[in-house]
This record gives sequence, structure tokens and C-alpha cells, in this order.
Amino acid sequence: MPKLKIEGGNLLTGNIQISGSKNSAVALLPAALLCDTKSKILNVPKIRDIEYLLKILEVLNCKYEINNQELEIDTTNLKNAPIPENLSEQMRASYYFMGTLLARFHRAEISFPGGCVIGARPIDLHIKGFEALGAKVTIIKNKYIIEAEELKGAHIHLDFASVGATINIMLAASRAQGQTIIENAAREPEIVNVAEFLISTGCNITGAGSSTIKIEGSNSLDNGIIKVCPDRIEASTYIIMGALIGKNLCIKDLNIKHLEAVLKKLSECGISYETKENEVIISKCNKILPTTIVTETYPGFPTDIQPPFVTLLTQSEGISTVLETIYESRFKYTESLKLLGSKTITEQNLLTIYGPTPLASNNLYVPDLRGGAALVLAGLIATGTTYLDNISLILRGYEDIVEKLTNVGAKIEIIE
Ligand code: UD1
Repeated sequence: MPKLKIEGGNLLTGNIQISGSKNSAVALLPAALLCDTKSKILNVPKIRDIEYLLKILEVLNCKYEINNQELEIDTTNLKNAPIPENLSEQMRASYYFMGTLLARFHRAEISFPGGCVIGARPIDLHIKGFEALGAKVTIIKNKYIIEAEELKGAHIHLDFASVGATINIMLAASRAQGQTIIENAAREPEIVNVAEFLISTGCNITGAGSSTIKIEGSNSLDNGIIKVCPDRIEASTYIIMGALIGKNLCIKDLNIKHLEAVLKKLSECGISYETKENEVIISKCNKILPTTIVTETYPGFPTDIQPPFVTLLTQSEGISTVLETIYESRFKYTESLKLLGSKTITEQNLLTIYGPTPLASNNLYVPDLRGGAALVLAGLIATGTTYLDNISLILRGYEDIVEKLTNVGAKIEIIE
């Protein structure tokens, strides 16, 4: 199994270009099925999740071409088929085929989605949404069969502002009869990106980015085109890295507006940085202040940035706390951080970090995608050579991570 070898302690300088958002792209590929013939998605990141989604598109008889991150999808001969479990289990986002196949064929057959093991992650809100639109859902063991004679717009209130449920209901409702209103919708930028794509296909959607989204269903959608928005989680990860070990490190092609909660928290920690329209320039901070973090839905502090931020807080001068409110089990990576020398205590969903602690290299196991990012940052600041095992999880979400880090002076490589 390949490992990541990281030699810590090198200051990082130069530019890092941010890729298209994983969480947008993984919704936009399934969304392309809503088009009668053609669609185009620009700025698609080269990550493992996209490779698997393309395999699912092949199963559904879609043709596609990808050149320089531009993906053209031809759905003229789209056919419905059960999504093979060995593909759907590779990632969370396979659940978006529920919404799009339901919209196109009034039937979807797919196993429970995969994704990082960071909590129970039920999909009951997705199911309730489909049922409200008129679908009947049968669950046989791990398999979901979702069928509808017809889909009719409905008024849906989400008990929790779930990203996945909001997008899935938007996708299904886009070809339903009449109007759907989603109340307590999630407001993440990725939802706006997907709505922009649907609008480009001719779908009438308003309110994306707010808590109330209105969708007018249409019989025919086509010629969708969209540029995947910058990955705010990737951008935040590298900005935090800059605060730990940067020297005028410039993180480019990001959207500053999507980073407000993270940038505000960095300022609270006494970390300074320069912002331009779509870049952040940041250097190593020699006195990081402790802080308290509560993860929230957007525009609050993102749960996906909690792990890399904890690596930063291991270097802060005092005691910090992190309350994880989105997932029940998102501190597994702190066991690996401890092997490097960090001092943390986990009590259910509260983590206490005692800083500052010097970190020294070790052999570590990556438990999940963002936990893996936290360990990469830790390896970059630790003394000695750190080895990370189970790195396919990191490659699921960070495009060209080794190349990007090598280009700014990190000593990092994949070894067999
Ligand atoms: C998406 C992101 C993920 C991010 C998360 C929160 C993708 C592919 N993944 O995941 O990176 O961490 O948003 O920002 O975009 N829940 C239920 N029932 C449901 C749906 C969700 O109880 O039907 C719970 C989940 O168990 C979890 C919480 O709600 O505890 C958040 O889930 P949700 O916002 O749906 O996240 P995902 O779409 O899975």
C-alpha cells in the first residue's frame, strides 16, 4: 500500500492554486443527468471521487470527454440501471444519483452511500424529501429502491439544514410537476453552485444560499454549463498550513467570501494574513493564541476544517477547545496526533487541546479524509520523517496534493 513520506520543518513559500470544490463537483456530475442531451462542467478537480463518479456515469450509458478539467457529458442515450455497490460505497456523494435518477426515470436503485466514517450519517432527511415529492422508498438490507408514479412539487421543512438532503431534493424537484419549497435549507456555497447549474439548464430556482429555496419543476432541462466554485476546504487547509510553516505563502484562486468563518478564527488566534480579491498571503505565526471553536453549518465554522485547525491549535500558547456539533465521531485523527506528541483530551464531542507541544515524527494511520489533512499538516511541522498509511482517503479530496506542496518547498512524496 502506498504511503506518504513527509520530512518536516521546511518553510513553504510560493503559490498554491486552489482547485474546484470537491463537494460541488461531486453533486454536479450526477446533476448532469438532468439534462436531456448535453452539459459542460468546468474546473473539475482530478480526485478519486470524480474517477468513481465517471464510472457510475458509464454504467448509466453517458458519454463524456474530459480535457484540462473541462468535462463534457452527453446524456442523449442515458439509461437507468442499479448503481453497483462497489461504486456507490466509494463515496458519500453517490446518493445524488437517487435524486437525479428519480427525476429522470421515476426510479432509482442504489446501495447506502459510503464516505468517511465520522458518525452514523443517516439519510432519513433525503428519504423524507423524496417521499414528500410522491416517491415510495423500499429498503432491502443495504439497498434503496426509490420509485414514483409521478413527482409532484411539495413544501418540505428540513429538521436539520443538511447539505446532502438540500441538494438531493433540489435535484429531484427540478423535474417534478409544480413548485417545491425547501425550508431550513442548507446555505453552503456548494448549494449555490449546483443551483446555478440547474438555472443554466432552464430550471427556475430562487433562494439558493438562503434558508428557503423555491424550485419550479420542468419537463425538459438541457445544455447546463457551470464552473465548479473554488474548494473552500482545500483553501482553508493550505491557509492554516501557511500559519504553521509558510513564508509569504500565497493561496490563489479562492473565494474570500466563502472563508469568512475560518479567517475570523485565524485572526482571533493572533494570526495575520493579507487578502486580495481571490488570494490569501500568509506566513508562519510565532505566537498563536488559543481559542474556542464550535462547528456549525455554513456560514459558521465548517466541520471539515475542524481537523486541520486542531493541528494548528496544538501549537497555540494555552488551552483551546473544539465542540464538534455536526458529527459524533470526528476526533479519531487526534489519536494519531498524540503519537506525534500533541496533548488532547476527548470527552464525547468536546476536544480540549493543551498547547503548545513540539511534534516529532512517527508512523501514522489516516482515519478519514480531513483527519488525513490534519496529519499532513502535522507531519510538515514535526521534526524528522513522518509516514502516513491509508492515504487513498486523502487523495479522495485533495487534488495533486503532493505536487502542490512540493512546488512550495515541502519534502513530501508517495512511496510504495
Ligand atoms: C456534506 C459534505 C461533507 C460535510 C458536510 C457538512 C459532501 C459530499 N459532503 O456531507 O464534507 O462535512 O456536508 O458540511 O458534500 N443528517 C441526518 N440525516 C440526513 C442527512 C444528514 O441526520 O438525512 C446528519 C448527518 O448525520 C450529519 C449532519 O446531519 O451528522 C450533517 O450532514 P449533511 O449536512 O447532510 O452532510 P453531508 O451531505 O453528508
